[in-house]
Amino acid sequence: MSESILGMKRTDMCGVLREGDVGKSVTLMGWCHKCRDLGGLTFITLRDRTGEVQLVVTPESSEEIRNKAARIRSEYVLAVSGKVELRSAPNDNMPTGKIEVAVEDLRIVSESETPPFYIEDENTANESLRLKYRYLDLRRPVMQNNMILRHKIAKSARDYFDQEGFLEIETPMLGKSTPEGARDYLVPSRVKQGSYFALPQSPQLYKQLLMLSGYDRYMQIAKCFRDEDLRADRQPEFTQVDLEMSFVDCDDVMGITEGFVSKVFKDVLDVNVELPLRRITWQEAMDRYGSDKPDLRFGMELQDISSWASNIDFVVFKGALEAGGMVKAVVVPGGASFSRKEIDALGEVCKTYKAKGMAWVVPSSEPRGSFLKFLKPEDISSLAALVGAGEQDLICIVADKFKVVADSLGQLRIAAANKLGLIKKDDFKLCWVTEFPMFEYSEEEGRYMAMHHPFTCPMDEDLDHLESNQGKVRSKAYDIVLNGCELGGGSIRIHDRDLQMRIFKLLGFTEEAAQEQFGFLLDAFKFGVPPHGGLAIGLDRFVMLLTGAGSIREVIAFPKVQNSSDLMTDAPAPVAPKQLEELAIMNVVPTEDYCDDSDNLVMD
Ligand code: AMO
Repeated sequence: MSESILGMKRTDMCGVLREGDVGKSVTLMGWCHKCRDLGGLTFITLRDRTGEVQLVVTPESSEEIRNKAARIRSEYVLAVSGKVELRSAPNDNMPTGKIEVAVEDLRIVSESETPPFYIEDENTANESLRLKYRYLDLRRPVMQNNMILRHKIAKSARDYFDQEGFLEIETPMLGKSTPEGARDYLVPSRVKQGSYFALPQSPQLYKQLLMLSGYDRYMQIAKCFRDEDLRADRQPEFTQVDLEMSFVDCDDVMGITEGFVSKVFKDVLDVNVELPLRRITWQEAMDRYGSDKPDLRFGMELQDISSWASNIDFVVFKGALEAGGMVKAVVVPGGASFSRKEIDALGEVCKTYKAKGMAWVVPSSEPRGSFLKFLKPEDISSLAALVGAGEQDLICIVADKFKVVADSLGQLRIAAANKLGLIKKDDFKLCWVTEFPMFEYSEEEGRYMAMHHPFTCPMDEDLDHLESNQGKVRSKAYDIVLNGCELGGGSIRIHDRDLQMRIFKLLGFTEEAAQEQFGFLLDAFKFGVPPHGGLAIGLDRFVMLLTGAGSIREVIAFPKVQNSSDLMTDAPAPVAPKQLEELAIMNVVPTEDYCDDSDNLVMD
């Protein structure tokens, strides 16, 4: 039978009691983590948000208390009063391990069924089960710490931007589609049947309009929605620390952002970040690291060996070079000890990123390699000298178009570093990637697309060849990268209506289409626009990287799984026919046919 806590008032939290509290009478409330009956002595670990403390019921306790203690099971909610005492056998693994509370009053406030998994950090239950019972999973200390850290970062953000003169202004959830590149989540209108709101992919257009309205410095902890394929660092519903500033250039936005990021490192981890952060142009990042989000925690840079390869009579190299491509290498230190199977696994990584294959050489006195018959001994020694490889190293080579070489060797670099244990979780390397290409050619669409979004300003130096050489135009866009993950991105925006129309045209919009989709922005641009720019940091990613969590789901209270559904509530779910009727919506396919019951729902 459950009891009320009437008359009992909590005086302390469980996890904060220490030796200095010995002798104090306390009233605690929380969940029973474990209850052990050691023949007369009953030990109960009581847990709340701050941690755990041991309670003890002795043979001297009243019969009523002993009887109640005997009924207690894991996850029962208890209210207890008692005295803090020194423990005869301290537990150094518990912050409260030097003391215990001798129970004088005990109430069982709420009983619990046996939970489907143990509520503890070493939980090995599969993630689907944890997500189905997320409210229990969230009781685990590690999850509570993630949520606490998330709160601290959000608070740091508000404090910092407030001090810097930013205003937090909310923007609508029900709005018009913004072109961030993903599919929109749509919300049908009941009143205007056949019309739809789009949930914001980001507050992009609204924050630009706020600059036009004179708010100068805006920030928002903003919910964003993107219907895209999920990965370990992506959710359909996620949160940005979003900002926009007027009368600024790239350096201003980057400076403010760096200040924020370094404050969070200090506030949350007590880590000092050296400012200003290193800046790398997109071209350099792609050339040296094969990625626009380089992981700078280790070396193994990509090296161009095209001129060496042009003297080798190997059709793979010749073919790639003749087709305007390149040949590049990554030296894996100590890789000479890899088995054939391990080297093939690196080759498979390259193939996943569209390389036709990976050639390799170990330049030892008895060289090994995948294309030795095309190499003379002096070719091997000149290659080793060129790339700085020793006898113990493995040289991995890909010949292809620039993008394929960069992607495949960039990923190989990470795979090899992981394999060699070169990546330390508590090492944090931040940098900026700047001067992104303005446009990106889409093979699928057969045309150039905006690499960031269509409001990004081209670099002044490249304005003249906007129409003549689209592929060469760079933009005033910047990404902030932490340990190989894109933490945030932004740009200086176009504030000139004519330039904006020119960009829309290059992106394939007719004047009418641009007017239809962004008419309100173009109209607004007729009324005095300050130069402006901004950026958004992915809050979930930031928390994930700071906690060392393996996926973004670990730092979101109620995340979605692979097929964008919520295993706890079963959302999305069919709705009553009447609701659809009111919206004038008819399902084209019977609801059951949409169901996806694959069980790999949490795989990344
Ligand atoms: P962008 O699209 O680069 O820029 O997004 C900014 C940051 O948001 C995070 N992010 C995500 N996090 C989790 N799940 C997702 N699906 C997801 N998508 C993006 C990333 C990313 O760096 N409006 C612009 C910003 C600007 O130009 O000011 C924007 O949204 O950390």
